[in-house]
Amino acid sequence: MRSDLCSEAGFVAPFGSEGPDPGYFSWDQDLKSTKCINQVMTEYFIGMMSGTSLDGVDAVLCSFAADGHFNVLADYAVSYPAEIRQQVLSLQDIGIDELRRAARLGNQLADLYAAAVQGVLQTAGFRAAQIRTIGCHGQTVRHAPLDGYTVQLGNLARLAESTGIDVAGDFRSRDVAAGGQGAPLVPAFHQAVFAHADHARVIVNIGGISNLTILIPGTPAGGFDCGPGNMLLDAWCQLHQGLAYDQAGAWAASGQPNTDLLSVLLDDPYFSAPPPKSTGRDLFSLEWLQTRLTGFESLSAADVQATLLAQTVQCIAIAIEDFATEAREVYLCGGGAHNLELVTRLKQRLPTRHIESSAALGLPVHQVEAAAFAWLARQLLARLPGNLPEVTGAQGLRVLGALYPR
Ligand SMILES: Nc1ncnc2c1ncn2[C@@H]1O[C@H](COP(=O)(O)OP(=O)(O)OP(=O)(O)O)[C@@H](O)[C@H]1O
Ligand SMILES: [Mg+2]
Repeated sequence: MRSDLCSEAGFVAPFGSEGPDPGYFSWDQDLKSTKCINQVMTEYFIGMMSGTSLDGVDAVLCSFAADGHFNVLADYAVSYPAEIRQQVLSLQDIGIDELRRAARLGNQLADLYAAAVQGVLQTAGFRAAQIRTIGCHGQTVRHAPLDGYTVQLGNLARLAESTGIDVAGDFRSRDVAAGGQGAPLVPAFHQAVFAHADHARVIVNIGGISNLTILIPGTPAGGFDCGPGNMLLDAWCQLHQGLAYDQAGAWAASGQPNTDLLSVLLDDPYFSAPPPKSTGRDLFSLEWLQTRLTGFESLSAADVQATLLAQTVQCIAIAIEDFATEAREVYLCGGGAHNLELVTRLKQRLPTRHIESSAALGLPVHQVEAAAFAWLARQLLARLPGNLPEVTGAQGLRVLGALYPR
């Protein structure tokens, strides 16, 4: 699907910046005859996201016009082989030989990212030479902003070498260095493309973790990680059904949520902690769940799944009620938006809100996060900020990321 978005809040520089550094822009070597980036309108970027669900890589090819128009021209997904997923999971915990395993996994991930780049180029009918830069999130294996680090694997030098395209990555570290959470980073992009001059909106991304962006006219955008999105649902489904995820939430729908277990799950201090806050597999894991199941052994596995779904619904709903009281419009993105049971329950839980997919705003649910990393790459090249200090808690606006020239 093709989208055609243009922010009403201003696309490239929503931060009151004076705009891109003209010194940066130069003739594109491969399109010299038709384009001078300073004068001609359109540049093409590839954005890639591989998130906490560990399902794989989502890639999009976007066009950015100087007048603020933004389009996704193609998307492409590469699933993680089971062995890669297992390696990522094992590096999430302390173990032997971590550095070698991380380096080798970084190479394997780079090769998967390269396959996603080839796939999206082919789908769009583009050549590598037409792409300005790839924005690649990498794969998070540790996220500990309070200890001053966050680690995303993916050998981006190898990706630049194999694709022949400039690669931008490591977007989170600078925000962490500036005292921020390094996450979520997507709210700045959500603000740039989804903000409305008069309507208060909430954008909810339901990935492995769920996070929301609060867009209230006249107010700085807000946002934080609400808690688990699909991650625990996936882990429990894998354990008991041998499936990567609960298709449309049908298995959860076959069970009954247990209110006592739900209270125990929601008792984690993460939920009552004030923003800024971000989380990941470092906290919410199968082990986290299993320690809380003591005393609930009589529940069926389907009832536990129903309760986990209720937990995801509840932590999103509470976040919206507490921090976006006036927002009537809620737009869902990420793979969790395909979970019909989850969406149905969320609509029941928030009956006065208008809840729709991000497709209603022009971007299908699986394109939003990947497009955000294309946008972040473009911000980096223009030396414009990519973070929102109100969201991450950083000391100020920062240009995010590192560049690996082709
Ligand atoms: N048809 C479906 N029914 C139920 N759940 C689905 C369906 N399709 C996708 N999902 C869920 O979405 C997940 C993938 O979502 P997504 O790729 O947005 O998450 P992610 O990679 O963790 O990204 P991020 O953490 O950055 O938001 C799957 O693991 C699964 O739980
Ligand atoms: Mg994913």
